[in-house]
Amino acid sequence: MKRHDLLVIGAGPGGYVAAVRAAQLGLDVACVEKEKALGGTCLRVGCIPSKAMLESSELYAEARDGMARHGVVVGDVGLDLKRMLKRKERVIKTSTSGVEYLFKKNRITRYLGHARFAGRARVLVSGDGQETEIEAKNIIIATGSKVAALPGVELDGDRVATSTEALSYDEVPAHLVVIGAGYIGLEMGSVWLRLGSQVTVLEYLDRILPGMDAETAQEAHKIFRKQGMMFELGSKVIGARVEGNRVTVERDGADAIECDRVLVAVGRMPNTDGLGLDAIGLAIDERGRIPVDDRFATAVKGVYAIGDVIRGAMLAHKAEEEGVACVERMVTGYGHVNYDAIPGIVYTHPEVASVGRTEEELKEAGVEYRKGTCPFRANGRARALGQLDGKVKILADARTDRVLGVHILGPRAGDLIAEAAVAISFGASSEDIARSSHAHPTLAEAVKEAALDVDGRALNI
Ligand code: NAI
Repeated sequence: MKRHDLLVIGAGPGGYVAAVRAAQLGLDVACVEKEKALGGTCLRVGCIPSKAMLESSELYAEARDGMARHGVVVGDVGLDLKRMLKRKERVIKTSTSGVEYLFKKNRITRYLGHARFAGRARVLVSGDGQETEIEAKNIIIATGSKVAALPGVELDGDRVATSTEALSYDEVPAHLVVIGAGYIGLEMGSVWLRLGSQVTVLEYLDRILPGMDAETAQEAHKIFRKQGMMFELGSKVIGARVEGNRVTVERDGADAIECDRVLVAVGRMPNTDGLGLDAIGLAIDERGRIPVDDRFATAVKGVYAIGDVIRGAMLAHKAEEEGVACVERMVTGYGHVNYDAIPGIVYTHPEVASVGRTEEELKEAGVEYRKGTCPFRANGRARALGQLDGKVKILADARTDRVLGVHILGPRAGDLIAEAAVAISFGASSEDIARSSHAHPTLAEAVKEAALDVDGRALNI
């Protein structure tokens, strides 16, 4: 029997960060992970590899279609997909090795294998044909999420598959059908569109990016359509039939679509597979999530849960914040996550980034707000970059001027949103942003200009 102060189950961004912080706070920490590589979905088959492919495909598309505009003549542009995929693998390897380094540096004990509860403070780890029993006073479940199934559509891990496979197609599909116009569908759809696929996105709802600010999502939709991505909204997929290398996607009340590959991206669900929650009498809710209180404590003493496996957005940085808050509260008595200041970013081109409340949410809650916007075409740096699509939108409380939500569609929106998240964390007013000097010429000036516009005193639009 092995003993530790804290055992973390899962080494994704939530789990590994919780382990590191707990070690910094002086606990004897162990972490169980069933995959050989540390870092979870995010590092192995999610955020990091998808960003590597987005970057590579963007460079290819830019060299093919964009550079001539800048007077850069590049001759014949070719695609070496094998090399592109290899580079992505190297990016993954560097990232997962980075987590190994952090474990060593912080003296975190790593167990390789699948963890399941044997009792309240006891976990059995099975891997490599052996079983290890671990006892820990506190246990954090950070087992993340898995792909949500779509009734009627059977995943065959090849022609009809998930984002994991879409990160590694060995040839550019002639026609890729993406089911779901959310984060994954739009990011992976963009990658293969740029590499030469015809991409058709089938979305059940009458809009893309549900949950994001509607005006911003609508503008993004227009831009993606202009780029050549095809959308069929209000499309209910009821089946997918594979015959050889072809797939027929069947829809309710509409024609079937033939394609080479199907990417199913209709959401993710909490992963508690084989965890043995029954052994400790821990029940999951109707959506498969583990219920927790504001300390991330479950109904079982000494057992906590964070990240995709509990309520809230399934985002790596949300899981990280929860991991840190959970162990800080455990050790010091204090720890908190400000859920109003968690940004969400879709890494398309242009990027879509959002923090705080949407206009729809404010209207529904009856909150009076003022709105300021700045289109990127009014920004000097955006003109120099040749990236004029999109705008910054700031929503502030009509009475107090406190910033309630910021939505950005445009170049580097994912980086620009950090300022807005800090503003919301600090309880800033739009005037605070407007009175802060923003260097010229930067894209960030569009944020300042939108803040000025909240008070009707924009200078450049
Ligand atoms: P999502 O929830 O973002 O989007 C799923 C989409 O599928 C929605 O638009 C939904 O209306 C649609 N849909 C659901 N059922 C459907 C059906 N039967 N037919 C057609 N459309 C249907 O989920 P996604 O893209 O799979 O991503 C999963 C999770 O991973 C998300 O929670 C997201 O937060 C996270 N993620 C985050 C990324 C980022 O931060 N950039 C990147 C990738 C994923």
